[in-house]
This record gives sequence, C-alpha cells and structure tokens, in this order.
Amino acid sequence: MAVENCSPNSRKLNKIIFPIILLLLCTTSQAQSNSSSDFIKSKCNITTFPSLCLNTLLPYASTIQANPIKLCDTALDIAIESAQNASHLVSMLGKNKGISKYEATAIKDCIGDLKDAVYELKETLGAMGHLNDTDKDFQWDNAKTYASAVISDATSCLDGFSDRKVNSSVKTTISDAISYVTRLASNALAFINYLY
Ligand SMILES: *[C@@H]1O[C@H](CO)[C@@H](O)[C@H](O)[C@H]1NC(C)=O
Ligand SMILES: *[C@@H]1O[C@H](CO)[C@@H](O)[C@H](O)[C@H]1NC(C)=O
Ligand SMILES: *[C@@H]1O[C@H](CO)[C@@H](O)[C@H](O)[C@H]1NC(C)=O
Ligand SMILES: *[C@@H]1O[C@H](CO)[C@@H](O)[C@H](O)[C@H]1NC(C)=O
Ligand SMILES: *[C@@H]1O[C@H](CO)[C@@H](O)[C@H](O)[C@H]1NC(C)=O
Repeated sequence: MAVENCSPNSRKLNKIIFPIILLLLCTTSQAQSNSSSDFIKSKCNITTFPSLCLNTLLPYASTIQANPIKLCDTALDIAIESAQNASHLVSMLGKNKGISKYEATAIKDCIGDLKDAVYELKETLGAMGHLNDTDKDFQWDNAKTYASAVISDATSCLDGFSDRKVNSSVKTTISDAISYVTRLASNALAFINYLY
C-alpha cells in the first residue's frame, strides 16, 4: 500500500485487517501442528504400547510432521537413547562394591547384549535411509530383521538375572530399564512393519 493512501480511513481499515491476518496466520499454524499430532496419534494407535508411543513421540511432532519415515527414524533414535541409558545404568550397578561375582558376570553379559541392541538399532536406521534405493524390499526386510533382533537381544540381558542369587532390587531396576527399551523397540518395529 502506497504511503499517500494511508489516510485516516485506510489506517482504520488496517486496524481491522491486520488482526484478521494475524488470526488467519495463527489458525493455520495451529491446524498444522494439529495435523502432525493427529498423524502421530493415529500411528501410535497401531502400536502395542500406545501411551508410551504418544509420550515419547508427541514432543517431536514438529520434526515428524506427517512423514512416516521420520516417524520411524525418531522412534529408533529414542530407542537407541534408551538402550544407551540402560547400559549406563547397568554399568553403574556393576560398580557397586556389594555385588557378588555371580551378579558381576550377569552385568557384564547384559552390557554386551545392550551393545548388540544399540548396534542393531543403528543398522535399522541405516536400512531406513535406503528405502528409496532400487533394492527397497531388501532394505525393508533388513530393517525389520534388525529391529526384531533388538528385542530378543535386549531381553536376553535379563537371562543372567533370573536366578535367586541375584539381589531383587538390582533385578527390578534392570528389568524395568530393559522393559522400557523393548517396548520402545517394539513400537518402532510396528511402524516399520506398517510402512507399506
Ligand atoms: C488443535 O489443538 C488445540 C490445542 O491442542 C486444541 O485446543 C484444538 O481443539 C485442536 N483442534 C482440532 C481441530 O483438533
Ligand atoms: C484408535 O483405534 C480405535 C479402535 O481401533 C479407534 O476407535 C480410535 O478412533 C483410534 N484413535 C485414533 C486417534 O486414531
Ligand atoms: C536418557 O537419560 C537422560 C538423562 O537421564 C534423560 O534425560 C533422557 O530422557 C533419557 N532418554 C530416554 C530415551 O529415556
Ligand atoms: C523417499 O522419497 C520420498 C519422496 O521423494 C520422501 O518423501 C522420503 O522421505 C524418501 N525416503 C527416504 C528414506 O529417504
Ligand atoms: C541390593 O542392592 C541394593 C542397591 O544396590 C543395596 O542397597 C542392597 O543393600 C542390596 N541388598 C542385598 C541383600 O545385598
């Protein structure tokens, strides 16, 4: 609008039009943020642990948008972080002076299993990045295989702790952390399975 047109009248008009434009802008951006959270809500609905899915993924709605690949990648990133956290927790427990030789062995094996789980999660992410290649089906199968392996490897961490000789508070702490990792990995696997 040219300056000479800025008569008192058109200024008045601006006072009306400007808020309308702002309102429109705000409504549009809210609609967008809703559509990405609606996308996440509908995808989480197909997972085995929908509320965990929502709690961990809704904070990333603006990154995920409505992109199913980004949804998988974000879910995998979170699962990697949880496995690293679990590994850290288990090694801290291993530093406890009171632990038995038996527990120390179980802890060492568990850290190895979690290391495998992190490796497999990273391989899953890697395969996800190649889904546009000509060997898409091969890559997709790889992603599914690696993501399933994560669940069995993380679960085998608990094998060494099933014995009565293990301190029950240590056992509970570790099994909670492992269950968190396997639930996150299971949700990521569900997204990958339902991609196509
Ligand atoms: C959009 O999200 C806002 C805030 O979460 C909510 O109040 C509103 O009802 C939602 N609108 C729709 C159409 O889902
Ligand atoms: C989740 O699934 C249930 C039943 O399958 C359905 O009634 C509900 O509307 C779905 N919710 C969303 C957010 O898609
Ligand atoms: C990992 O641990 C950090 C520090 O305690 C925490 O902030 C983060 O939320 C944890 N990540 C997951 C995925 O649990
Ligand atoms: C594959 O290409 C589509 C469309 O160009 C894009 O939306 C998608 O994110 C790409 N996937 C990967 C894994 O790069
Ligand atoms: C079990 O482990 C906890 C935490 O490490 C420790 O405080 C407690 O003393 C242990 N109990 C026994 C019976 O060793």
